[in-house]
Amino acid sequence: MFNFFKKKKTEENIYSSLPFSTDIHSHILPGIDDGSPDVESSLILIRGLMDLGIQKFIATPHIIGDLYRNTPQTINAALEETKTACKKAGMNIEISAAAEYMIDDYFLELLKKKSPLLTLHKNILLTEISYSTPPVNLETIAATIIAQGYRPIMAHPERYHFYHNNPDIYSHLKEMGFHLQVNLLSLTDYYGKSVKKAAKFIIQKELASLVGTDLHHKYHLSALTDPKNRAIFHEVLGNRTFNDLESIADQK
Ligand SMILES: [Fe+2]
Repeated sequence: MFNFFKKKKTEENIYSSLPFSTDIHSHILPGIDDGSPDVESSLILIRGLMDLGIQKFIATPHIIGDLYRNTPQTINAALEETKTACKKAGMNIEISAAAEYMIDDYFLELLKKKSPLLTLHKNILLTEISYSTPPVNLETIAATIIAQGYRPIMAHPERYHFYHNNPDIYSHLKEMGFHLQVNLLSLTDYYGKSVKKAAKFIIQKELASLVGTDLHHKYHLSALTDPKNRAIFHEVLGNRTFNDLESIADQK
């Protein structure tokens, strides 16, 4: 009995925090996408991630032509509001903002106009694609992004169901120049079994260079906090290094 409790305690210590301290993908800024609705909710989400060991946040609100036409101005205003509220609440954290760009006609327009895009770090651009249909000409789009000096990240490739019967696509996305970012909760049953299978495949084949919470709301937070899930994150990710933004930015 004594040994059982001792073992339990040690496991809790190992898995008490998330396996990285900088979160590069979240929707914690208030009122500008489908993430946090207001600044009070943002503080709850941020505090929750801080309790899990996150020390640095790079918030990434959606930019989607048909839904959230965020701009550097709307994003920076929400960032400043959040920073002020954190300071007032005595929360000592580092928080910056970029965006998660949906590869849609609006994004292609921004690219064509060479509008300066919001990056996670230096030239690193977080992108996602539609959950219903893959974009046509993704190779050409990737080449255009890279030709403009950006290093594209594909957010949560494991969540695109149309890729699940074609696991070779993940290496192909890398050949196109995308760095792959897996969502932590994809490693659990949160998004379903086929997403979990794809996420594990991507990690175990060493195809992912980034992981993130993609935190939108309290349900994500409680799943991230669940000790059973935290053990899974550590088990699957092991000692691999993720989120080395400096080395991604420097890659030719
Ligand atoms: Fe996201």
